[in-house]
Amino acid sequence: MKQDTEGAFLLERNPDCASHDERAGLIAAPGFGRVFTDHMATMRYTPDRGWHDAKIGPRTGLDMHPATKTLHYAIEIFEGLKAYRLPDGGATLFRPDANARRFQSSAERLAMAPLPEQLFVESVRALVRADRDWIPSAEGASLYIRPFMFGVDADLVPDPASEYLYCVLANPVASYFKSGDKAVTLWVSDTYTRAAPGGTGAVKCGGNYAAALVAQAEGKRQGCDQVVFLDAVERRWVEELGGMNVFFVFEDGSLQTPPLTGTILPGITRDSLITLARGMGLTVREERYGIDEWQADARSGRLVEAFACGTAAVVTSIGEVKGREQAFTIGDGGPGPVAARLKSALTDIQFGRAPDPHGWLDRLF
Ligand code: PLP
Ligand code: COI
Repeated sequence: MKQDTEGAFLLERNPDCASHDERAGLIAAPGFGRVFTDHMATMRYTPDRGWHDAKIGPRTGLDMHPATKTLHYAIEIFEGLKAYRLPDGGATLFRPDANARRFQSSAERLAMAPLPEQLFVESVRALVRADRDWIPSAEGASLYIRPFMFGVDADLVPDPASEYLYCVLANPVASYFKSGDKAVTLWVSDTYTRAAPGGTGAVKCGGNYAAALVAQAEGKRQGCDQVVFLDAVERRWVEELGGMNVFFVFEDGSLQTPPLTGTILPGITRDSLITLARGMGLTVREERYGIDEWQADARSGRLVEAFACGTAAVVTSIGEVKGREQAFTIGDGGPGPVAARLKSALTDIQFGRAPDPHGWLDRLF
């Protein structure tokens, strides 16, 4: 078995990698989050040794005690970022330092050991280099990377974990929505909320998603692609989608997105789009927007577009919104030009088709 190192990460090559043809078949129609590469990154934390045993090894199952705290108390956080194939055959990450910092704030919120930014970025770089042949080259496709970490103490005491396992998986992915580039339909959740003030809405922990699944399932039954959540206090202000931030575009050309008040995830795509839009001379407000205003403005034509954004979804127009008290179409119900322009500006940088004036790319090879 060939061994090598990538920064702090010992590389143990998988002796049983997918063949060229198997891999090509899997990459050709990957869907989202179902096809995994040959390797995974792992690293352990204990109070006496700190972070140790950093390794890129064959992707394999995990052996866990049934009392592993996380299985009972959800002491788990994760991240999502992508590696992009460049026109010259190389590859790059997009703002991995921002994901590393968000991972640290997630850890802090769940009373977990923070992972140093350098180790987070190194783990991602090392895994993608080991699995470089899995980065798709097809238009719009990329390698989605999923760092995650959880408490491994094997006891049922509901206190913070002291020992952790950090892992990174990678998936070749195409469009997140089955409908591809079509505009999506949202379901307004009025029964369930996603996050309350003082809760965990601003961090990326698995528990937030578990709590949102029932609302997402309700949306699916109503024929919608995603659920949109309102604030937990007044049940009025639009917050975000189950796995994406949201932007509104008005007839005067200005944009608006909900502010980071602690109950929504500070999306890296959201932040990048604000920078890009302002760079195009567009006005972007980070201000609250009510669901009733959204309906009234869509009907009057004051609101001309809305879109969702995130690492997985990139930029996806919202065509229709439905709820027990809502039913409205945005614009003509199809993808909008401002969303398309911002999506191009973002993806042209990510795929190396345009200069990177903000220093967002982290070239791998
Ligand atoms: N909001 C939620 C709830 C998410 O899960 C995500 C995806 O990570 C986002 C927003 C967008 O964040 P980012 O742009 O950093 O991927
Ligand atoms: C992402 O965009 O990275 C997400 O985490 C969204 C979803 C797949 C959970």
